[in-house]
Amino acid sequence: MKMFDVYPRYPINIVKSKGVYLWDDKDQKYLDLYGGHGVISIGHAHPAYLSAIQKQIKKIGFYSNSIEIPLQQEFADLLSDLSSYDSYRLFLCNSGSEANENALKLASFHSGKKKVIAFKNSFHGRTSASVNVTNQPNISAPINKEQFPVDFIELNNEIQLFDKLNTDDICAVIIEGIQGVGGLDMASETYLKLLSNLCIEKGIVLIIDEIQSGFGRSGKFFAHQHTGIKADIITMAKGMGNGFPVAGLLINPAIKVKHGMLGTTFGGNHLACAAGISVVKTLRKEKLIENAEKIGKLLVNELKKIPSIKQIKGKGLMLGVEFEFAAKPILERLLIEHHIFTGSSANPNLLRILPPLSITYEEIKVFPEALKSVLKSMKQE
Ligand SMILES: Cc1ncc(COP(=O)(O)O)c(C=O)c1O
Repeated sequence: MKMFDVYPRYPINIVKSKGVYLWDDKDQKYLDLYGGHGVISIGHAHPAYLSAIQKQIKKIGFYSNSIEIPLQQEFADLLSDLSSYDSYRLFLCNSGSEANENALKLASFHSGKKKVIAFKNSFHGRTSASVNVTNQPNISAPINKEQFPVDFIELNNEIQLFDKLNTDDICAVIIEGIQGVGGLDMASETYLKLLSNLCIEKGIVLIIDEIQSGFGRSGKFFAHQHTGIKADIITMAKGMGNGFPVAGLLINPAIKVKHGMLGTTFGGNHLACAAGISVVKTLRKEKLIENAEKIGKLLVNELKKIPSIKQIKGKGLMLGVEFEFAAKPILERLLIEHHIFTGSSANPNLLRILPPLSITYEEIKVFPEALKSVLKSMKQE
C-alpha cells in the first residue's frame, strides 16, 4: 500500500533525537531550528518527559472522559499558574484545528450569531470551521466554502477594523498571537488593545490562536501577553505536548458551558496529561520562557549584521528571516550542506525559525554563520 501523497518530503529518515539535535539513519547529525512546525518546546527526548510518559503508560495510558481523570486538574492548576488565566476553564483536545473548531463553536453557541472576523494571511487549521477562517483558499474544499460568513481584514488597519466591527451580527474575531504559516506578521500593541476594547464594547468573543506562538515560544507564555490584553478564548497546541498530540482551550467563565456542547474521545487522556504536565513543569524549572526571550534577542542581534537580510519578524524563538529574494534555495542549502532544519511560510522570501525553547547560544550561533556562508556561495554562482 502506498502513502497518500500529501507532502513534498526531504529524503531524510530521522531515527534519533536529543535536545536540539536529530540524527538520520546514516548517523548524520542535524541542528533542529524548526521543531517539526514549532512543536518541540522543551527539547527532543527530554529525560523528565520520557520518564513521565513511561511511568504513566505503565499505570494507565487511556480512558475516556466518562470517568474522573485527576491528572486533568493537575494540568489545569499548573497552567493557571503559568498562563495568568487562573479564572478561566480548560478544555483539552488533540490538535490545533480541533481547538479552533471548538473555540468558534463555543463563540457561536454563546452569542447565537454566525459571522466571524479573521485576518488576511491567517492559518487556523484544516477542519471545517477552522479552514473557513483560514485565508488560504487553496486548502478549502467546495464543502468548506461559505459555511458561515467570514470577513478577512488587514492586520493593523484600524479604519477597516472600526468599519467591519460596526455591525451586530458578529460572534467572534479570531487572530493569531503571531502569524505562523502566513509569515510572522503580528498585530501592533495599539491595534490589539483597540481590537480588545471594541470586542468588549460590542460583546464579541475575542479568540486568540496561540497554537504556534504560545507555550513560551515568544518569550511570554502567550504572545498576546506582550501587550497586557486578555482574550475570551485562547487556543493552544504544538508546544503543549512537545510532540505528544495535546491541545486545549482556555475559556472565559462568562461563556457558559452545557454538557454536550463540546466533546472528545481522546482529549485529556492520561498519557496526554502526563506529557503536558511534564512540559509545563520543565518550562518552569528550566526557565525556558526566559531563555526563549534571551536567545531570541541574541540571535536577532547576530542576524541584523547580515546585509542581505531585508527584515527580521516575530518575537522570542518564533522568528521570520525575510530576504528580497526566494528563501527556498537557502533553506535547502542550510539543510543539505549545513545540516540545519529551518522552515518556510506562505511568504516565499521568508525562513521560519522555531527551535526548541531549550536551545543555548552556543547551539544556535552556528546558524548565522551557516547562513552567511550560504548567502556568500549563492552570490558567487
Ligand atoms: C496558528 C495555527 N493555528 C492552527 C493550526 C492547526 O494546527 P493542527 O495542524 O494541529 O491542526 C496551526 C498549524 O500549523 C497553526 O500554526
